[in-house]
Amino acid sequence: MPASITGTGADCALARHAVPYSAVPGPCPKTREENAYIRLVQECRGIVFPLDAERLRGEWRQRLGFPAEAPLWVEVGCGCGFFAHHLAMTHAHALVLGVELRYKRLHQAARRLPAAANLRIVRYDGLRLAHALGREVDAFFLIYPDPWPRPRDRDRRLYSQLDRFIPHLRGGGSIHLRTDSERVCAAFVRAAELLGGQATAHRLDRTGRADLSAFDCLFAHLGAAAWEATASFAAARLPG
Ligand SMILES: C[S@@+](CC[C@H](N)C(=O)[O-])C[C@H]1O[C@@H](n2cnc3c(N)ncnc32)[C@H](O)[C@@H]1O
Repeated sequence: MPASITGTGADCALARHAVPYSAVPGPCPKTREENAYIRLVQECRGIVFPLDAERLRGEWRQRLGFPAEAPLWVEVGCGCGFFAHHLAMTHAHALVLGVELRYKRLHQAARRLPAAANLRIVRYDGLRLAHALGREVDAFFLIYPDPWPRPRDRDRRLYSQLDRFIPHLRGGGSIHLRTDSERVCAAFVRAAELLGGQATAHRLDRTGRADLSAFDCLFAHLGAAAWEATASFAAARLPG
């Protein structure tokens, strides 16, 4: 049975003062909306706070009671946790981490934890995962990480920072993207190929798909198209 990891007092204090990364100085994104949820999130059992995440670095499977061969899948920007929860429920052998920054979303995602023993919701900045993950991930999922993209935000966006995820892939790992922007999808494919991956992309057909996220449902409701891409990185081609 995987061990339960919850926030320690020290981690809660860090969360309360919005200084979430023990090793990385710098401001934490914080909004008024998030503030109202800080206490609620602190009280949620099962959320992994930044200090615990950093302690688990490189040993997530081992420390949570999963065998070394169990897939470790990470959704970065999991929002309310719909997609990560589906992954966990349909793949009981995998360890699934949903990484999210915003307290309101964390609170929503944490409600799904009791139903899935192999799901952890982690409060962390998806662009600073080097402090929380070793080379131990089998797949990253970026599911509408940056909807309605604006060119001026490009350098701060998750999809344009693949070099931050690739070092955490163990042999044969992959990165999966879903996006409402064909341009973002093409940029992801280009970036993956430049970084030594092999990528495929296509327009998303939602018909009969059970693995839809909350934003999948939103875009379906709006009648908007979406694209998905997969980039695979063979062990021999992984940098470093
Ligand atoms: C558009 S939502 C998509 C949520 C979910 N994947 C879905 O498809 O329903 C994007 C989420 O990514 C989160 N996010 C954005 N940048 C992040 C970062 N650097 N680290 C962690 N989460 C991030 C946002 O807070 C937001 O909840």
